[in-house]
Amino acid sequence: MEITKICCIGAGYVGGPTMAVIAQKCPHIQVTVVDLNEERIAAWNDPNTDNIPIYEPGLSEIVATARGRNLFFSTAVDQAIDEAQIIFISVNTPTKTYGKGKGMAADLKYIELCARQIARVAKDNKIVVEKSTLPVRTAEAIKSILDHTGNGVQFQILSNPEFLAEGTAVTDLLQPDRILIGGDTTPEGKKAMEALVQVYSNWVPTDKILTTNVWSSELSKLTANAFLAQRISSVNAMSELCEKTGADINEVAKAIGMDSRIGPKFLKASVGFGGSCFQKDILNLVYIAKSYGLHEVADYWEQVIIMNDHQKRRFSNGIVQTLYNTVSDKKITFLGWAFKKDTNDTRESAAIFVADDLINEHAKIAVYDPKVSSKKILEDLNYLATRSPEHNQDSVTSYRDPYEACQDAHAIAILTEWDEFIHYDWQKIFDAMQKPAFIFDGRNVLDAAQLRAIGFVYQGIGS
Ligand code: UDX
Ligand code: ADP
Repeated sequence: MEITKICCIGAGYVGGPTMAVIAQKCPHIQVTVVDLNEERIAAWNDPNTDNIPIYEPGLSEIVATARGRNLFFSTAVDQAIDEAQIIFISVNTPTKTYGKGKGMAADLKYIELCARQIARVAKDNKIVVEKSTLPVRTAEAIKSILDHTGNGVQFQILSNPEFLAEGTAVTDLLQPDRILIGGDTTPEGKKAMEALVQVYSNWVPTDKILTTNVWSSELSKLTANAFLAQRISSVNAMSELCEKTGADINEVAKAIGMDSRIGPKFLKASVGFGGSCFQKDILNLVYIAKSYGLHEVADYWEQVIIMNDHQKRRFSNGIVQTLYNTVSDKKITFLGWAFKKDTNDTRESAAIFVADDLINEHAKIAVYDPKVSSKKILEDLNYLATRSPEHNQDSVTSYRDPYEACQDAHAIAILTEWDEFIHYDWQKIFDAMQKPAFIFDGRNVLDAAQLRAIGFVYQGIGS
């Protein structure tokens, strides 16, 4: 089947960049990204592509080339479903906040709504691709809804997990390590997989496109993220031991990373991992394992989350202890709020939890992040519902200028590894701060020797 029309439901961090790259690489395919959120779609359609709702290096340029040519953003969900041969579902699957599986299982209500909408609208055969991060067996749920509520049309359900990391989404999409496509082993399933392979092979070498059964594909996504997060929790666990013994985690990480069996990536000790995937996916893995009665498997993976929570708490406790056991009314400046550099995404960012702890200790938090708005910062804290929005508003101030943010501060905490921090005039910042001037480098990105020479009391992670 020659694919000429694709639709994607969900114009978020996954759907937006993925469809932009497909459109750029497949000019013969019309790609329509739809979302219920009118504000978000309007931002994707902003004539100035610097105002698109998602910040990713290189993305606005791609949108500028393809938008209006074969890339469209719209709120007309039904029409896009009706016209498309392939429908990607890229809606959010947050952790459930209520009922059975609360705090662990993924909430599939948005997926289910999409499936029902597709079933209602579709008049001819469709390939439905699950693109969100989902627990194992979601494809089966979608299939069951479509088969029982559809207008007699045939649906093929594929799992095509996304492995892009935020901040590097465009390069990850242009040069993926692999593309994974899971489908039924029936002749129709194989045909559907082949159609999607054809789309990707417009720019991805075919030896990098793997086809598997649906469950392997879904579980591979959870496994990849669990392994990656586990490396960070492992290195963070060792960072605490380093601090006690006088070893330096950066040296240890380099030494072990040179073992080709271990490899050098994802060994950076930090204040803790954030992002929309790691915690959610591991919680799902734990939930699935428990639901099969595999308690040892569940406990094993849950420890990765426990260690991450410990690392965040350890960081905020360290700040309080070092500042003479009180931060009450002290100005503590956060450089960075996003969960990693080069993104404006703040989901599960360590900064939120560290700020929450310090506000409980009556600190005044000043925040500078080059890409995160003050509105978002307050929303993140309010979402935790630890205290009233008014209290949060009184406790946090955000700045558009880093030097102003650091003025009169008792301490600086680095929460995101933005490159620009390295190039600041640290002498100027030191001169404007309260003394002793403390820096808590939650990302080990600054030059400790240089800062100590200026007069800062510098504390990194794991040394
Ligand atoms: C992750 C996976 O990498 C990606 O393949 C998947 O599709 C989605 O989840 P993402 O969450 O965007 O991507 O970012 P990632 O680069 O994996 O970083 C996650 C968190 O771990 C960040 O908070 C980052 O700062 C932290 N991290 C990463 C470390 O603390 N140390 C490291 O060595 C690497
Ligand atoms: P992700 O990181 O998985 O891409 P986001 O939250 O950034 O998650 O994006 C998901 C998008 O899906 C949101 O913009 C949301 O409005 C949209 N969405 C959720 N449910 C539906 C639906 N039934 N129809 C259309 N869009 C939806």
